[in-house]
Amino acid sequence: MFRTGFLGYPTTFMLDFVVCALVLIVPLLLFSLWLVKFRRNYAGHMKLQLTLGLVLLVAVTAFEVDVQLVHGGWENIVAQQKLPEAEYAAKISAVRPWLIVHLVFAITTPVLWVATIVLALKRFGRNPQPGPHSRVHSLLGWASTIDITLTSVTGLLFYYMAFVR
Ligand code: HEM
Repeated sequence: MFRTGFLGYPTTFMLDFVVCALVLIVPLLLFSLWLVKFRRNYAGHMKLQLTLGLVLLVAVTAFEVDVQLVHGGWENIVAQQKLPEAEYAAKISAVRPWLIVHLVFAITTPVLWVATIVLALKRFGRNPQPGPHSRVHSLLGWASTIDITLTSVTGLLFYYMAFVR
């Protein structure tokens, strides 16, 4: 069951699962920012950010294990399309640059998220309120938000180029 995708393309279950997570994360993040900016619901924002961070960590770890260890790399998942050899090689080289751009954001995002969350928990505590850490947190928080959004957009573009087109 986990060897095939559920979105109708020749992929894997975990690949389709992470694509759905990447689509869902953006509106959930916007909701979390609305909570903090317009409702001043700092505890709600904290809980949602911690949940999103944990869900992303678990989903991405399971995804990496699946792609790298179970399937032996994304190229093997493209091979499921059973293209003629020359067409397969051309597709792999055409799609690789999209993956590299995606990886720039996908690798920096967890670093920023961990820094944002660890510092926020240390400096705001478990009952968060605006304070001396607000300026640094807003900077880190917006950088994390932009980075995960670009991870999502470039991840979806890669999925489209490699598995849909
Ligand atoms: C990666 C996780 C997080 C992201 C991306 C994030 C993002 C943000 C952003 C962008 C803002 C500024 C909104 C504005 O422009 O007014 C903000 C505000 C705030 N966040 Fe987070 N946040 C995260 C985690 C947390 C955590 C774990 C806590 C609590 C421990 C927290 C507490 C706050 C508080 C108290 C504010 C209000 C600061 C103020 O207006 O003075 N955040 N967050």
